[in-house]
Amino acid sequence: VNQNREQWGSRLGFILAAAGSAIGLGNIWMFPKTAGENGGGLFVLLYLLCVMVIGVPLMLAELAIGRASQSNAVGAFKKLTPGKPWFLTGGLGVLAGFLILSFYAVIGGWILIYLWDSITGLLTSQGMNTLTALNEHFTNRTTDPMYSILFYFIFMALTIFIVYKGIGEGIEKWSKILMPVLLGLLVLVIVRGLFLEGAMKGLEFLFVPRFEDFKPETLAGALSQAFFSLSLGMGAMITYGSYLKKNQNLPQSAVQVGGLDTLIGILAGMAIFPALLSINPDISPADMGGSGLIFKAFPQIFLEMFGGNALFAQIFAILFFVLVLIAALTSSISLLEVVTAYFVDERKFKRSHAAMIMGALIFIIGIPSALPTGAFDIVSSVTYDYMLPIGGFFISIYASWVWGRNRALIEIADGCKCFKLGILWHFILRWIAPFVIFQILLGKILIDLKVSESIRTTLQTVFTYTDAVLIGGALIAGIYFWFFKPASLVRDEKE
Ligand code: PFF
Repeated sequence: VNQNREQWGSRLGFILAAAGSAIGLGNIWMFPKTAGENGGGLFVLLYLLCVMVIGVPLMLAELAIGRASQSNAVGAFKKLTPGKPWFLTGGLGVLAGFLILSFYAVIGGWILIYLWDSITGLLTSQGMNTLTALNEHFTNRTTDPMYSILFYFIFMALTIFIVYKGIGEGIEKWSKILMPVLLGLLVLVIVRGLFLEGAMKGLEFLFVPRFEDFKPETLAGALSQAFFSLSLGMGAMITYGSYLKKNQNLPQSAVQVGGLDTLIGILAGMAIFPALLSINPDISPADMGGSGLIFKAFPQIFLEMFGGNALFAQIFAILFFVLVLIAALTSSISLLEVVTAYFVDERKFKRSHAAMIMGALIFIIGIPSALPTGAFDIVSSVTYDYMLPIGGFFISIYASWVWGRNRALIEIADGCKCFKLGILWHFILRWIAPFVIFQILLGKILIDLKVSESIRTTLQTVFTYTDAVLIGGALIAGIYFWFFKPASLVRDEKE
């Protein structure tokens, strides 16, 4: 083991840093947006299934690969299977990190713009309390290069600064304090929102699945959202896992991080939809979707929360955007960390140089995304819809077929002597996850290629049923193993 390599200071510190990577704009900005666009309840249900059956097992695989190799996303594959091209999976991840950060930081910039507008009081001033006004404000701000580029730059600079500083003190300490505050604030908004008249409509939208609305795109959307939100498919969790000590309980960590992340996404939805639909009873959430959702809904909600009192609304808005900013930063640093760790370990850069040079490059590549050029949609769709699921596909194949059950389970046994679901976990990665991901991707490709309607519908119906059987089966097996098979499967392997 490399003695100089940094390590997380404590168990809790790691959980919060990993949760910090997972919890971010994907939860607060994107989850409500995607749920809104996909009809609400059914999407949320499919999302939960994707997280439980595919997301958490894959996160465990990434953490185990990281800890076993003590290496960055590319080096991990090189170390565990030398001389084989598997390191390309890590390479795809580094590239994904590069590209995702280039648009993620643009949204981070929007958060900063809204923080700024909260501080000056503009956001909670008279005349901002209608959706029309807020819509217009959003468009003006995000298409004005003065604002969008400047604040994008500031967000990127903050990200670079923290990664430059390294793992322990910065990332870990801040996550510990700020994540709980964010949780508290969200709960406050929810509680207040639920007392507004007509709020139940929002809860109904979010939680009652309407199965007749099912489209294959809903499942594809849920899977992509799960990967993005859990920071999976690009080696972020391999990289974070590589700073772990051997005594960490990995399955428990994956469940905790996955659970916290899901909780925050659902809470963000609960903060938005009831209040949104109560204040604007005539809009449909699907029309409200799109990138502006939180920027249009929240300012209105804050004003409403305090009965139009601009000062309270302002204070609350500032607090809120500060915390969203922090959630975004703890994620953006993990994106830059994947790239940085690669250049430090494999290309022998100094950490400070790697962070600065790569950060600057990413900034330049992202400039078109910060301008109204259409680049934002292309880069985000390529990474979110394709690169992360493809990465996840290869990582699950790798962990289960190539690295192999015994080596994986022995790694996991450090810190977790009786992993009850070990065999099932391996089975999921070997058979279920690759199939489901592959089918969902293929379905998505058919849609994007505009393949003829009849072929597509037939194939997608078959896919959907097999996916339902695979996911449902895995879930039932999980419950069975958990409650009725208490034997330690890992020990059997080892002894
Ligand atoms: N999970 C982050 C979010 O939900 O905002 C985004 C993200 C971070 C995706 C790191 C991927 C990643 F590697």
